[in-house]
Amino acid sequence: MTDLTTMPITEVVEKSELKHIAFIMDGNGRWARQRNLPREAGHTAGAANFKTIVRYCKRIGIQCCTVYAFSTENIRRPRHEVEAIFRLLLSYIEEAGSEKDIEFRFIGNPAALSENIGRRTKALEDVTRGRPYRLNIALNYGGRDEIVNAVNTLLAEGKQKITEDDISANLYTDTCPDPDLVVRTGKEMRISNFLLWQSAYAEFYFSDKMWPDYSTDDVDEAVRDFAGRSRRWGGLDKDETK
Ligand code: FPP
Repeated sequence: MTDLTTMPITEVVEKSELKHIAFIMDGNGRWARQRNLPREAGHTAGAANFKTIVRYCKRIGIQCCTVYAFSTENIRRPRHEVEAIFRLLLSYIEEAGSEKDIEFRFIGNPAALSENIGRRTKALEDVTRGRPYRLNIALNYGGRDEIVNAVNTLLAEGKQKITEDDISANLYTDTCPDPDLVVRTGKEMRISNFLLWQSAYAEFYFSDKMWPDYSTDDVDEAVRDFAGRSRRWGGLDKDETK
């Protein structure tokens, strides 16, 4: 029996074939409120932590990371909060080209947020294309919207009959494998319109920590937990098929 608690984390990632991890970075607002700070301060702390966690995931050998930065519904938040999130994103995009080895992809419809965001996200995708690690940033993203968009693309191509593979190939995540593990912080247990199609067989992990407090040790804990699970993809465990 392999001991998942003592094995180096890079080995756990490799042995468990964890290729894609996705994060619902929830709890920025509550983290700030608990400290009598404005919600924007929570997003600032959240953005700093996002960098730490993404770099760590790459360091331990996870090929693909997806983060939920801004949903199609988040635009309903007060203007000053939305603008604060956009400022953080734009300032991150400014420096992100120098993140070594990371290919960026913005999933969702960032161009609809503003002409500036559309142009800068596209430019970052272009300069980082072909790099070995992939980071998907969900920006103005909704899982239902993504599926509808895929179906409309196929209809526009004249498809009469649509297969699962057709839909998968037309999602924003296209060349990425589906997420193996979806982590949500912030004590909530819901999917919030995130990667609806892609997470059909994902394992879910919920953390009580608010996103700015979520640490690399917490990533290790989630990864070890994932490695100890039995993924059956709707079938049976090997020893139950005899
Ligand atoms: C959820 O917390 C978080 C968001 C809606 C925004 C996430 C944005 C960042 C981490 C900053 C910018 C990102 C990048 C990639 C630089 P919440 O506000 O819903 O928290 P609450 O549930 O406590 O109110």
